[in-house]
Amino acid sequence: MYRTHTCGELRLSDAKKKVTLAGWVQRTRKMGGMTFVDLRDRYGITQLVFNESVNAALCEEANKLGREYVIQITGEVSERSSKNANILTGDVEIIAETLKVLSPSAVPPFTIEDNTDGGDDIRMKYRYLDIRRNTVRRNLELRHRMTTEVRSYLDKLGFLEIETPMLIGSTPEGARDFVVPSRMNPGQFYALPQSPQTLKQLLMVAGIDKYFQIVKCFRDEDLRADRQPEFTQIDCEMSFVEQEDILEIFEGMAKHLFKVIRGVDMDKPFLRLPWIDAMKRFGSDKPDMRFGMEFVELMDILQGHGFSVFDDAKYIGGICAEGAASYTRKQLDALTDYVKKPQIGAKGMVYARVQDDGSVKSSVDKFYSQEVLLQMKDAFGAKSGDLILILSGNNAMKTRKQLCELRLKVADELGLKDKNKFALLWVTDFPLFEWSEEENRLMATHHPFTSPNIDDVPLLETHPEQVRAIAYDMVCNGIEVGGGSVRIHDSKLQDKMLKILGFTEEKAQEQFGFLMNAFKYGAPPHAGLAYGLDRWVSIMAGLDSIRDCIAFPKNNSGRDVMLDAPAALDQKQLDELNLKVDIKE
Ligand code: AMO
Repeated sequence: MYRTHTCGELRLSDAKKKVTLAGWVQRTRKMGGMTFVDLRDRYGITQLVFNESVNAALCEEANKLGREYVIQITGEVSERSSKNANILTGDVEIIAETLKVLSPSAVPPFTIEDNTDGGDDIRMKYRYLDIRRNTVRRNLELRHRMTTEVRSYLDKLGFLEIETPMLIGSTPEGARDFVVPSRMNPGQFYALPQSPQTLKQLLMVAGIDKYFQIVKCFRDEDLRADRQPEFTQIDCEMSFVEQEDILEIFEGMAKHLFKVIRGVDMDKPFLRLPWIDAMKRFGSDKPDMRFGMEFVELMDILQGHGFSVFDDAKYIGGICAEGAASYTRKQLDALTDYVKKPQIGAKGMVYARVQDDGSVKSSVDKFYSQEVLLQMKDAFGAKSGDLILILSGNNAMKTRKQLCELRLKVADELGLKDKNKFALLWVTDFPLFEWSEEENRLMATHHPFTSPNIDDVPLLETHPEQVRAIAYDMVCNGIEVGGGSVRIHDSKLQDKMLKILGFTEEKAQEQFGFLMNAFKYGAPPHAGLAYGLDRWVSIMAGLDSIRDCIAFPKNNSGRDVMLDAPAALDQKQLDELNLKVDIKE
C-alpha cells in the first residue's frame, strides 16, 4: 500500500497512529537538529519531522530532498507544539520513521505555491506543475462538481446524454471551422463541430425528445478572455416545447447551480429583456446589470442650441456615474482618449458635473444655458456629486455600443464589477438576421435553423431585417453564458430562410440537405439551448479568464505552448494525406 492516508486527512484524533503518506515535497526547513518537510498532495499538506538525535541517517536523507521530490514515509502522528491554524492538518505532524524517494524532481521552473513567482507563459508551458497549485486545482474540482450537478439535474428530468461525432462536415454559417484532412478520401476534409446543432436536431427527428451532452466545440475565431478555440458546451435540445419551457428548465438549472456551488439563493424569476430594449438601455445584447448607469437619450434636450456636434447627430445619449464628479480633468481626458481609440471609435466625449449647489458645470457650457443643463440633470435623476458623460454620433446603434464601452470602463474604475454579485437575465427577441459588412449580405444572427417570431413571418419577404427570432441568451454579469432558440421544423419555412440567407437551392441541398431531408419524415416542434461550461465555471470561481478553469488551455494565439501545437506535419504524413503545403505570404 502506497499510503494509508492522504496529506489532507490527519487530525488530532489520529494522534499515536502509525501512518504511511506519499506525496510531493513542497519545502524542507532545517532548524537545529530537526528537519521539517511539508508533504503535499491533492488533498492538503502534512508536516513531517525528522529528528537528528533519534535517527541521524534518516534526517540526513531528508536533508537531501529537493522541491517536488515524490516520497513515501511512515511514521507516527503526533500533536504539534506550534500549531498552524491555516491548514486543516495544522494540529499534527508525523514523526518520520522511514523515508523512500519514489521519484526525484528537477528544480521546478517556478515555485508551486498559491502565490507563485511563475509568469503566465512559463506556467502554461509547465501546466502539469501549475495544476499542482491549490488555486488551479480548485478550479478543476469546481468544474467537476458543476458537470456532476448538471448531469444529475438533467438526468432527473429524463434527459439522455448522447454523444455526437467530432468528425463532421463543414458548414458555412457562424465562425470558421477547424478542418481535418481525410486520408481515405484524398482531397476531402472533415470539420470539427462548432456545436452539435444539426445533430441534436436530427436526434429530435429520431424521437429522443430530451437530449443533452457535455461536449467539446471548436471555433476558429479571434480569442478573448472568454473565448477559447476549443471549449465545452452543456448542449440541450427538447421536442414538443416552446421558448417558455426551455427558459423555465434552464433558469432552474442556473438557480440550482448557484445554490449548490455558491450557496446563493435566487428566488426571483430572472429579468427578461427584449434585445431592442437591451440595446437602447445598455448598448449591448449582454448588459452587465450588477450596476445601473442606464443610457438616457438626450436628443430632445440637447439638439438645437448651436452646438454643431450635437445638432448634426442622429443619436445623443449619456450615462450618469454616481458620486464621480470628483473625476479630475486628467481622468476625464483619459476617458475621452479611451472612447476615441480606433476599436471604440467615438469622436469625442462631453461631460457635466453636478456641483454641490445642484447646478451643472459642463464642458460645453458656452452652448447651453443652466436651464437646459438642469433639464438634462433631471432626465438622469442626477444629484450633487454625480458625473454625466455624453456621446453622440451619426449611427444610433454604433454610438450606443460606444456608450456601452464607456459605461463598462467607468464601472471598472468605480469598482462596480463585484465578483461576488451575480446579475442574471434573459435577453430575448433577437433579430433573426444581421447585416454583415464583411459578406455584404444578411446573416443569421443565431443560426439558420432559428424560428422567426410567428407574428413577423409576413415581414420575411419585405423587411427581413425587422423580423424577430424566437431566440434567447442567458447573460450573467455582462457575459453571455448560454444561448438557444426555437427551431424551424417546417421544411418550407427552412427553405425560405436559406433563400433569404443567399443559398441557391443546390447550395442549400449540398450544405443542409441531410437536415432538410430528415424534416420530410416527421420533425417534431423543437427548441434548445447551449450553456458555455467554461464561462459558467469562471463566473462561479470569480476568474478573469476561462483559461484558468481549463486543464490545458490555448494561449491568445491559439497555441498549446506545452504540446507546442499546432506544428508542421512531416513529409510522410503529408504524403499519406495527399497534401502539399504551399504557404501564401
Ligand atoms: P452559441 O454559439 O451561442 O450557441 O454558443 C453557446 C454558448 O457557448 C459559449 N461559447 C464559448 N465559450 C468559450 N469559447 C468560445 N469560443 C465560445 N463560443 C461560444 C457561450 C455561448 O452562449 N448551437 C447553439 C446553441 C443552441 O441554439 O442550442 C450554439 O452553439 O457561453
